Amino acid sequence: MSTALVAPAAVADPPPADPTPAGPTAAAERRGAELEELIRREPGRFRVLTGDRPTGRLHLGHYFGTLQNRVRLQRLGVELFLIIPDYQVLTDRDVAERLSEHVEGLLLDYLAAGVDPEQAVIFNHSAVPELNQLLLPFLSLVSVAELGRNPTVKDEIAHSRQSAVSGLMFTYPVHQAADILFCRANLVPVGRDQLPHIELTRTIARRFNDRYAADRPLFPEPEALLSAAPLLLGTDGGKMSKSRGNAIALAADADETAQLIRGAKTDADRRISYDPAARPEVSSLVLLAALCQDRDPHQVAAEIGDGGAAALKRTVTEAVNGYLAPLRARRAELSGDRGELRRILRAGNERARAVAESTLDQVRAAMGTVF
Ligand code: TRP
Repeated sequence: MSTALVAPAAVADPPPADPTPAGPTAAAERRGAELEELIRREPGRFRVLTGDRPTGRLHLGHYFGTLQNRVRLQRLGVELFLIIPDYQVLTDRDVAERLSEHVEGLLLDYLAAGVDPEQAVIFNHSAVPELNQLLLPFLSLVSVAELGRNPTVKDEIAHSRQSAVSGLMFTYPVHQAADILFCRANLVPVGRDQLPHIELTRTIARRFNDRYAADRPLFPEPEALLSAAPLLLGTDGGKMSKSRGNAIALAADADETAQLIRGAKTDADRRISYDPAARPEVSSLVLLAALCQDRDPHQVAAEIGDGGAAALKRTVTEAVNGYLAPLRARRAELSGDRGELRRILRAGNERARAVAESTLDQVRAAMGTVF
């Protein structure tokens, strides 16, 4: 900031703010509160695009971290595009082998959680050729060094069980930029790990506009909306993850849920309290019950009091199964009508395709490649 803008010394200083955390995550968090306010005021200004890899059943971490929030945004009147990025999972061979099953499961989870397919556009990126064609000009706008520096991709490569890293693994963040920019989404609700991809998307939008559309920018620079991911741990006390067998799937039945919670890690202190720093496992269970009952976790803990782990687990099981019962009933009903599921996906793919065609036409015009 230029010094000319600093308030004159005579004006009383405001009380010192909390030390502001630095870095892209903190910035995205601060911006999140502003965005929430703007959304409440003018939901029609926002087009959201987000999605999940079709790698298996969504669990309670997904539900309370992101899914519930999407349904909330939709109900506020924000336009919602939900992508099922099926090409992206070709980076993982095991998952790719069961792709259509995973795609259908994901669609069921979305619908059961309350996404309205009449309003939202739910689609596969593999079904939208014009979206994929954006990959070519976009790839020309980033350097190999930039791709190699992406911390999320580096991490995924380090943890992948594959002996060789595919070209798709390096370029999927560029594909993700096409996922977002094809419909000119301006808001992308994601977890922290996705921030580098949103940054790259903004870079690509800017470079495209500078190079080909300086007079009339074609792409917006979308913003990340960080999901306020609650700290739900897996039942083993580790990170909740589909692949670790420590997650309660939305689609699980009541018995499977009870069994997972029964086996959950706790600690030796009989008095139940909510103290995530000192007692992460117990607190995560308390939080889960609280989220399902829409209550304050301290209150939930106080009510269990000296009941110990057994009482805590009973409370959590009842809370989770009670909360999920209507969702699971809806899911079961929908899963019986595969024709309807296919119809929903096909309609979503057609709507996405119409949008992508129009964007690609404009991209071609801007690049001077209309022949
Ligand atoms: N990369 C995301 C993930 O791994 C999935 C994804 C693909 C995505 N395309 C997207 C998320 C576009 C948001 C917007 O979870």
